Amino acid sequence: MVTKWAVPVQNRLPCGRGSVSTVPANMSYTKLATMSELPEGALIEVVRGKELYALCNVAGEVRAMAGVCPHHGGPLGQGGLEGSIVSCPWHAWPFNSKTGACEFNPDLRVPVYAVRVEGADILVDIPDA
Ligand code: FES
Repeated sequence: MVTKWAVPVQNRLPCGRGSVSTVPANMSYTKLATMSELPEGALIEVVRGKELYALCNVAGEVRAMAGVCPHHGGPLGQGGLEGSIVSCPWHAWPFNSKTGACEFNPDLRVPVYAVRVEGADILVDIPDA
């Protein structure tokens, strides 16, 4: 029996299944929280679909980053915030909330997203679900 693949060969994962998108995802500003949920100095986790985001408020500036640690997948939004540094709750790797860079290895980055605050709503420029 011959298997027909819906995914082009060049886009398949190494296991031969699924796909790796070669087209940038569409992005749009999406409400993820309100300012009352994120007072100054707070760090929260937001779940949207299958994605996790970590939002923090650094001296009144709202920042958004991917919510999964690149080390072993710790939930960054459940970690700690000290100044502008988000620490993973599992093994304490520190990430700059503005750049996403790991403090001890700047080549290691967590995606960060543009944020707009409209009224009380926090809108984050994230990939469309
Ligand atoms: S999973 Fe985040 S530091 Fe290990």
